Amino acid sequence: MKIAVAEQPYCHFVPEPLSPTIGAVLRGIDLGSELPDEAIAEVRRALLAHKVVFFRDQKITRAQHIAFARRFGTLEIHPATPAEQPDREVLRIEHGPGNKGRENAWHSDVTWREAPSLGSVLRAIEIPPVGGDTLFSDMEAAYEALSDEMKRFVCGLTAVHDIARVFAGRLGKSAEELHEKFPVQEHPVVRTHPETGKRTLYVNTGFTDHIKGLSHKESAWLLEHLYAQAAIPEFQCRFRWEENSIAFWDNRACQHYAASDYYPQRRIMERVTIAGDRPFFRA
Ligand code: SIN
Repeated sequence: MKIAVAEQPYCHFVPEPLSPTIGAVLRGIDLGSELPDEAIAEVRRALLAHKVVFFRDQKITRAQHIAFARRFGTLEIHPATPAEQPDREVLRIEHGPGNKGRENAWHSDVTWREAPSLGSVLRAIEIPPVGGDTLFSDMEAAYEALSDEMKRFVCGLTAVHDIARVFAGRLGKSAEELHEKFPVQEHPVVRTHPETGKRTLYVNTGFTDHIKGLSHKESAWLLEHLYAQAAIPEFQCRFRWEENSIAFWDNRACQHYAASDYYPQRRIMERVTIAGDRPFFRA
């Protein structure tokens, strides 16, 4: 396993890594304050180095949550956000009695978009007394752990991603209706990270439908193998939520899984998602 190289020092916070390659808690920064550009640049640098960064004790408002995320790019509006909701950039993820958590599958956000998200900023609104942790998996490590032959094979492949796999049922719409606005998309199975240049595995159990050019059986077999990489504990970190915790992950470099072990307790989160660019593979 690759050990993260020493980072350049930071002036605006102290990073506490949660594992050698993924996850760090950034201590000593107040996301509700007017952060200078240099502090935002440092958070971005830490995000690229650790793939997901966490903040504790951030008693911020919804407006401050949105304002922080906006410092990293344009914000998306998710089709699951009700049209009448103010602050439509916020996706509210609410579970409790009669509504069990459903985010317990390894995925990267909105890979059904032509230009899927750069990153997501998730704020804890109400957390269960115990449980409801979020796990993150390093997709660079997941790729690097493949054999050289498998790397050569998967690098040339393209996968089809489909919003309807998850949201047809959740939004009560047919695939055809959803595809009018969000047609199925093709993305490389291995993408080159646009900022770090690293290769990451870019298929996920939520939205990837199949791999182009393979038979149904071959595609299902290969996807099963690639999905299993995300579930390897050595590539993961696990975040235990506290009141006023925030997580900011890089959707281009990691996947996440929200443990759905708290039912029927309530767990309410708000997510703001930053638009990204079209995935590519650089040979
Ligand atoms: C998500 O899947 O984006 C939400 C993760 C979580 O609720 O922890």
